[in-house]
Amino acid sequence: MKSHQLVYQILARENDYVSGEKIGEELNLSRTSIWKAIQRLQQEGLEIDSIKNRGYKLIQGDLILPDLIQEKTNLIVHYKPETKSTQTDAKEGIEAGNKGNTLYLSTCQTAGRGRFQRPYYSPSQGGIYMSLHIQPNLPYEKLPSYTLLVAAAVYKAIKNLTMIEVDIKWVNDIYFKNKKIAGILTEAMTSVETGVVTDVIIGVGINFAISDFPKEIKEKAGSLFTPPAPITRNELISEIWRCFYQTAPEELLYLYKEHSLVLGREVSFIQDQTEKKGVAKDISDKGQLFIQLDDQTEIWLNSGEISLTSWT
Ligand code: BTN
Repeated sequence: MKSHQLVYQILARENDYVSGEKIGEELNLSRTSIWKAIQRLQQEGLEIDSIKNRGYKLIQGDLILPDLIQEKTNLIVHYKPETKSTQTDAKEGIEAGNKGNTLYLSTCQTAGRGRFQRPYYSPSQGGIYMSLHIQPNLPYEKLPSYTLLVAAAVYKAIKNLTMIEVDIKWVNDIYFKNKKIAGILTEAMTSVETGVVTDVIIGVGINFAISDFPKEIKEKAGSLFTPPAPITRNELISEIWRCFYQTAPEELLYLYKEHSLVLGREVSFIQDQTEKKGVAKDISDKGQLFIQLDDQTEIWLNSGEISLTSWT
């Protein structure tokens, strides 16, 4: 680990001020190196107070520690402090021959995107931006709905760590207190010769501890925590992937439906340029939404084509 990461770990562990001397002794670093490490942490958005003769105290913020996440999840972690999009990083990784079970992670995206190529707000402080690359090598019909499974893993991880229960809005959004706090974007690559899905990239963006949003999205966007957060991003990231890999798909699908914001509710959506309304009755394992329309006809909505405009 780098010096600033080691210094961060000491500050995160202590509740009070720690002297530069004590940090120096523990890490075998000079006072100048510690001072530089503190500066680097402040540049990365951490709020650190320093008092002469007492030392340093972490007031708020955390540092993403890729080595720690790698150790906790057994995934290969590729981390960039800033990137265009972790989806693009994953695609480039695949092209370069990287294997599956690799996580592309960043603390800031300059061109983050969501479904239907919508921009995804990805500020440098308080967010989580990550894309998991897996290699299912399955025909399309046998592929599980990774969006559903990961949405439920996000629900379960947040509940495990904080007792907070978030809601899931079909198909890929996580809501908390009626505001969107996270989104999932799943993209797949298929072999032209065999028709088999070789690679899947599951992108997850989470407003972890973001205090303010641009006015265009202020109404709809929320954050899991108002800073300071009671847990670290490292803990949440590790727990999400632990839940994803270690929970039976049947349980994740059950959690998805149980915490769905739309099941049993009246929803509207636009299809063939017409606004339609009906009651959301069920969600299939493949991620389709079963709707009973107002005229009593029943249809399955495909998440790739439709997003809901309202649910009440
Ligand atoms: C959506 O809301 O429609 C999905 C949002 C997905 C955002 C994540 S952030 C990590 C990864 N990189 C991206 O550019 N998008 C996904």
